[in-house]
Formats: sequence, C-alpha cells, structure tokens
Amino acid sequence: MNTPTSSPSPSSSYEAKFRVWRGDTDGGELTDFAVEVNEGEVVLDIIHRIQATAAPDLAVRWNCKAGKCGSCSAEINGRPRLLCMTRMSVFPRDETVTVTPLRAFPVIRDLVTDVSFNYAKAREIPAFVPPPGVAAGAYRMRQIDVERSQEFRKCIECFLCQDTCHVVRDHEENKPAFAGPRFLMRVAELDMHPLDAAGESGIDRARSAQDEHGLGYCNITKCCTEVCPEGIRITDNALIPLKERAVDRKYDPLVWLGNKIGRRRE
Ligand code: SF4
Ligand code: SF4
Ligand code: FES
Repeated sequence: MNTPTSSPSPSSSYEAKFRVWRGDTDGGELTDFAVEVNEGEVVLDIIHRIQATAAPDLAVRWNCKAGKCGSCSAEINGRPRLLCMTRMSVFPRDETVTVTPLRAFPVIRDLVTDVSFNYAKAREIPAFVPPPGVAAGAYRMRQIDVERSQEFRKCIECFLCQDTCHVVRDHEENKPAFAGPRFLMRVAELDMHPLDAAGESGIDRARSAQDEHGLGYCNITKCCTEVCPEGIRITDNALIPLKERAVDRKYDPLVWLGNKIGRRRE
C-alpha cells in the first residue's frame, strides 16, 4: 500500500543574514549578524532582536511601529525605507539584508541620524496667513481645494524624500540653498491654499520657492515620490505645479494677484 505523502511546508522561521552599520561621528563599519526571523516580521523586529540578543547598545530611533510617526527611517539594501513597514518577506531568505543610516544626514550613532536640517528648513517657510475679516470657524473652501491640501497633509515627516533627493544626497554644499521636496511641497500647499493671505502681506510664496528655497535645483526626477511611504505624489502634484506658478508669477504678477482675489470671491 502506498503511504500518502505531503510536501513539507517551508518552516515559518529561519535564520537571516543581516549587516548593520555601527559607528558614530568618528566613523564606523558594517557588522554581520545571523538572526532569527519569524513569519510576519518586519525589519524593525529583526533590529530589535539584534538588540535583545547580540548588540544591546545598537542605536535605532522608532516610536509607533505603525508607519505613522516617521522616526524609523533608514536605508535597507541602499533604498530609503521605514524599518517598521518593510516586511522581511520581500527579501529572499538567502539574501543578506543591509541596514544603514540615512545617507543625507550626519550620523549620531549607529542607525540614528541628526535630521535637524529639516527642522531648520521648516522654520524658513512663513506659516499660513489667516484671511483678514473672516472669523476662525467661518472659513469656507471648495472640496477640491480641501482634497489637495489633504494629500500633502498625509506627510509623516519621515524625511525619506529628503534623503533620496540627489540634490543633497551627495552634495552637502547644496543644503543651504535647497529646502528639499518635503518643504517645497509645504510651500506649494500654502501657495495653492485659497484662504492663505500671504500675498496681501507681500509674501510671494512661489517666487520665494524659486529664489530662496532652491526650486530650480529640482529636475523632477520623481525619486522623492518613489520613496514616499504615504504615496504622496510630491513631484506631480506639488513640485511641477509650483514651478509653473513660479514662472507665471515671474512673467505676470498681475495675473497671480487677479487669480487670488477672484478665487477668494467665488
Ligand atoms: S523630483 Fe526634485 S525634489 Fe524630488 S528627488 Fe527629484 S530633484 Fe529631488
Ligand atoms: S513627503 Fe513622504 S517621504 Fe517626504 S517626509 Fe513626507 S511622508 Fe516622508
Ligand atoms: S516606528 Fe513610527 S514610522 Fe516606523
């Protein structure tokens, strides 16, 4: 009698090869670890297991483990990603997974970088200017304008787009003049906001994007869009329209003023 056979199911646990960058401001190197992986785990789980079993002083920044706080940004096999949203199942089991800190920002220790460049750039952008004569709570906007803002507001400030942008990734010298995609998107959001009264205060947001925040450095390669974990179409919906608005403003500032006033009266 033949005995029924069943093909063995692959074990849900296996041992992965990890290479993790360890070091500080004085330099460092990749360190190898062999570490257990279980079904459903993400790269952050494996980093935590390395901390628990082999390297308790391994520095990593994280908070939510749900893709919402934006703090676990790093590079996995050279690609900017969130550690908590990268499933181990996307890598072949025999592939060495290399985890390194964000390349565009200075290392503090191990996988933790100093991202204060981004906060400095955020402070350079004038805040929303409330419309004069309209009480808070009485603001009204068309749904299409609400939806445009909402897309940009999904940003979790992970700075993966900032890290991947070639303008600053290998060019520290460009940082003073270039705000990066995340903050050019912020300028775009405010410039397209129908209630923003910055224009009446003498602030031309689209022109300042060009003149002060380095919009001209962007050659719309869309690398920032490709790494955004929130799926924000940074290039198509923010940077390209902002470039168009900056050109319009440059050649016909009266058109801009007329549009602004006209839109507010609709
Ligand atoms: S589209 Fe512009 S901002 Fe985005 S990565 Fe390319 S150059 Fe940088
Ligand atoms: S735009 Fe996307 S990639 Fe850039 S900081 Fe925001 S969430 Fe991160
Ligand atoms: S830990 Fe919050 S986004 Fe990854």
